[in-house]
Amino acid sequence: MSGTTDDAGESPAGETGGTSSLLDRGRQLWRTARSDIIETDDRVAQLETAERRPVERHSLGNRLSHWIQAILFFLLLWTGLAIWSGNYFLLESGIWGGYYVAFGIHMWTGILIVAITFVVFPYYYVLVDKHHQLLEMADIQVSFDIAEAFVGLKKYMPYYHDARRAYDEDEGDWIAHHPMQKTFFWWIAIFIGILALTGFGMYREMATESTWWIDALGFMAGWLAFETLKQIHLLLAFITAVMVLFHIYFAALPSNWDVLKSMVFGDVDAFIVHSEHEESTGDQPTTGDGPATAADGGQAEKRESDVTTGDATRGGEPTDE
Ligand code: HEM
Repeated sequence: MSGTTDDAGESPAGETGGTSSLLDRGRQLWRTARSDIIETDDRVAQLETAERRPVERHSLGNRLSHWIQAILFFLLLWTGLAIWSGNYFLLESGIWGGYYVAFGIHMWTGILIVAITFVVFPYYYVLVDKHHQLLEMADIQVSFDIAEAFVGLKKYMPYYHDARRAYDEDEGDWIAHHPMQKTFFWWIAIFIGILALTGFGMYREMATESTWWIDALGFMAGWLAFETLKQIHLLLAFITAVMVLFHIYFAALPSNWDVLKSMVFGDVDAFIVHSEHEESTGDQPTTGDGPATAADGGQAEKRESDVTTGDATRGGEPTDE
């Protein structure tokens, strides 16, 4: 098990140069991707003995923008369904037929959700609270593990649930996310972006007196027919709604209640780990199996020097140096 990082070190890429070094590099990456995260990220090995303490997982700005985003999304769904089905339940208002009320709410919530999804929420969630969303080697390792466990080829990693609650006090970041969480973050942004563009495309065709910003945002009207824009808009609305349903289902699972509460109150009872972990103090955990072996004998020290402080390499992908 512990061979992954070490084997990779046996034939360092770059020595032979050219194609063989590229092949070596490819093999090393593949081996790291197929290895267990506990072997390549010392912080995961610290989980067993880690101190537990409440840490703010979601700042106020993060929580507010998340729930505003959720409210806007449900308003969009409600008004969108009303326009689509012609059933304006609760949206009829005086002389204004339900359509106009639904359309007005739909358009303005659409504009607001774009601002929240692309600017406000990512600012707080990713930059302030350090829930990194770029692909890391650790995500690939965990995805392989989860996929194999899902089809019964191996057991689920016993420490994985805890790793998602592990806070690196030295780096000030959360060390792991479920790979589907990161996927969700990106797909929601992509789909809300396309929904807005197809929506404005339709609006540009409908508007009798268009303005420059509607013309600009509705540029898709020049490419696609109104019916095509509408079909894409509807299809993505259904897909996004189903994704959000799954998102709520996973958030509501009892094993995730602590994280759900943190989206309301901020704190989660975190496992405190350290990237600048002192091997010489002898306080590193011994897990009693392969991974623990990988964590001692100076291997972790080697990894500390191999792994740069940037999150993109946090997965401990072996380096050539
Ligand atoms: C009742 C509805 C919802 C609940 C209970 C809920 C719950 C949560 C929770 C607990 C988290 C934090 C996960 C973590 O800390 O690891 C989260 C994150 C997030 N939520 Fe929601 N959410 C809801 C609705 C929505 C809606 C409607 C959207 C978008 C349209 C959305 C988008 C996101 C995104 C992009 C993230 C960050 C990625 C992730 O951690 O999954 N949420 N949500």
